[in-house]
Amino acid sequence: MGKALGYKAFGEADVQVSFDRPDPVPGPAEVLVRVAAAGVNPLDHKLRSGHVPSLNGELPFPQVLGMEAAGTVLAVGEDVTGLAVGDRVTGFALTGAGTYAETTLLLGTSTARIPDALPATWAATIPVAGTTALDVLDQLDLPAGSSLLVNGIGGGVGIAVAQLARHRGLVVTGTASTGKRDLVESTGATFVDYTAGDVVELLRAEAPDGFDALVDNVGGDALRAVAPLARKIVSIGDFSVGEVGGVVVERRVDRAGLERVAQLMVEGALDPHITATYPLDRADEALALVESLHAKGKLVIDLSL
Ligand SMILES: NC(=O)c1ccc[n+]([C@@H]2O[C@H](COP(=O)([O-])OP(=O)(O)OC[C@H]3O[C@@H](n4cnc5c(N)ncnc54)[C@H](OP(=O)(O)O)[C@@H]3O)[C@@H](O)[C@H]2O)c1
Repeated sequence: MGKALGYKAFGEADVQVSFDRPDPVPGPAEVLVRVAAAGVNPLDHKLRSGHVPSLNGELPFPQVLGMEAAGTVLAVGEDVTGLAVGDRVTGFALTGAGTYAETTLLLGTSTARIPDALPATWAATIPVAGTTALDVLDQLDLPAGSSLLVNGIGGGVGIAVAQLARHRGLVVTGTASTGKRDLVESTGATFVDYTAGDVVELLRAEAPDGFDALVDNVGGDALRAVAPLARKIVSIGDFSVGEVGGVVVERRVDRAGLERVAQLMVEGALDPHITATYPLDRADEALALVESLHAKGKLVIDLSL
C-alpha cells in the first residue's frame, strides 16, 4: 500500500484527491518501482483535464497523476529484459499507473538503469524534458555553428534544449519572461524578454538574418509570431505547426534515449535546473505552478522529503 495523488474525474484541480492504493502488480512488460522522485509536467494537468483521451480516456478513476519517475525496481515482469530487482532506474509510466505515488509501474522498454552518481531528482526529469530535448535536436540535426531560436526557453524542455544545443556547438537565443534572465544566460544562451516589447523586433535586432532553426515550446500565437524568423521549425506541443511550415517532434520513448540523457547529465552537459522540490503531500502545489504556464526550469516531487 502506498500514498498517491490522483483525480476522481476529469476536470480542474478540484478533482484531485490523495488516497492510498495497493502496490500495483506488474504485467509481463512492466516493472514495479518504489518511487524516489517524480517529474512534474504540463501533460499531467492536460491528462487530468481530459484533454488527451487517447492516453487515459479508458482508464478507471481515481487515476494517478504523473508520467515519469526515478526509483528502485521492486519486481520485474516476465518479458522485461535488462532490469533486475534493486536497480536504480528512470522511466516512463506508459502503463497508466501514474508517478505521483510511493510505488508505480514503468514500462520495461521505456525504463533505463541510471548511474550511481545521478541523484534521483535529476533522473526523474530525464524521460519527459530530457529526452524531448534530445529528440528535437536529433530531428533538427543542425551542424555546429548553426543558430537556434528556442521559443519558451525558461521551462523544463526549453532549458534542456538550450544546454544540449550549446553542447552541440549551436548558437542559442531564447524567449522567456523577465525573471528567467539569469537562468537562461547561465546556459550560454542569449536571453530575449518577450514581455519587454515586440518580441519579433527584439529577435530581429539579435539576428537580422533570422535563425537556422526554431524549437517551439509554446505554440499558438507565440509560435505564429516568431515562425517567419526561422528557416526550419519543430514544435513540441503545437500540432498545427504545419500551418507555419514546421513539423511536430517525433518522440522516441526508448531505453537508449534515457541512457544517453543520463550520460549527458553525468558528463556535466545537462543540468535540469530543478528550481523547487516538493514532498508528495504538496505535489498539488507543484502541479498548480506548472499549470500557471510560467514555471521556471523543472519542478520535481521528492519522495524523501
Ligand atoms: N511532444 C512531447 O513529447 C512533449 C514533451 C514535453 C513537453 N511537451 C509540451 O511542451 C510544452 C512545454 O513543456 P515544458 O515542460 O517545457 O513546460 P514548462 O516547464 O511548464 O515551461 C513552459 C514555459 O513556457 C514559457 N512561456 C509561456 N508563454 C510564453 C511565451 N509567450 N513566450 C515564451 N515563453 C513562454 C513559460 O515561461 P515564462 O514565464 O517565461 O513565460 C514557461 O517557462 C507543454 O505544452 C508540454 O505539454 C510536449
